[in-house]
Amino acid sequence: MTPEQTEHRVFLNRYYKAARSIYDVTRKYYLFGRDRALDELLAAPWASLVEVGPGTGRNLEILQRRRAWALYGGIEAADAMLERAAARCPWAHFQRAFAEDADYRSVLGVPPQRIFFSYCLSMVQRREEALQHALHEVAPGGEVHVVDFADLRGLPRPLAAGLRAWLELYRVTPLDPGWLAAQGAELVLGPGRYYVLARLRRPR
Ligand SMILES: C[S@@+](CC[C@H](N)C(=O)[O-])C[C@H]1O[C@@H](n2cnc3c(N)ncnc32)[C@H](O)[C@@H]1O
Repeated sequence: MTPEQTEHRVFLNRYYKAARSIYDVTRKYYLFGRDRALDELLAAPWASLVEVGPGTGRNLEILQRRRAWALYGGIEAADAMLERAAARCPWAHFQRAFAEDADYRSVLGVPPQRIFFSYCLSMVQRREEALQHALHEVAPGGEVHVVDFADLRGLPRPLAAGLRAWLELYRVTPLDPGWLAAQGAELVLGPGRYYVLARLRRPR
């Protein structure tokens, strides 16, 4: 673990220890697009998925309810969230790891057919490395899906500026859709460019 990762984990544990009990109730009012991302994921016939930064396990629980026969896993940097996700999703396989250098193949014993970032990439320190690493680790013919804050350019300026400043307090930096497109992603932007859905395919 690098000193940067150690420091990030300390921050995440402090933050989420305080926030995890109210996490799901509060986040439904501003982590928009997650259910749409789950619908898009479930539109194709994959059988294994790893979520990066599953938090409380909310997304994995919904996916498993709708596709119970698939294999599920998660890699999570924060111990405070890992405990919560493992208790909520006992059928999933979790590892304490960072998005930038996780060993995805060892989570399920096979390279996952889907890797999913839901409001996680905006918190990752080295996001290009994390995204390209996921694309390298997903199974051949597989896909990496992302839902996260976009550039907020469709919102009134003071609202966008206030939101950015508030997110910065929690080390969240919205994603630039232009950057995602340059990584090879197909994009769909949500209303007001509040969120972005991105899909990257690994060739067979
Ligand atoms: C805003 S929460 C999103 C949780 C969940 N994916 C959701 O949609 O509700 C971000 C999650 O990413 C995790 N995280 C942040 N940086 C990470 C990193 N570098 N590697 C792995 N997980 C990370 C946090 O601990 C947290 O659980």
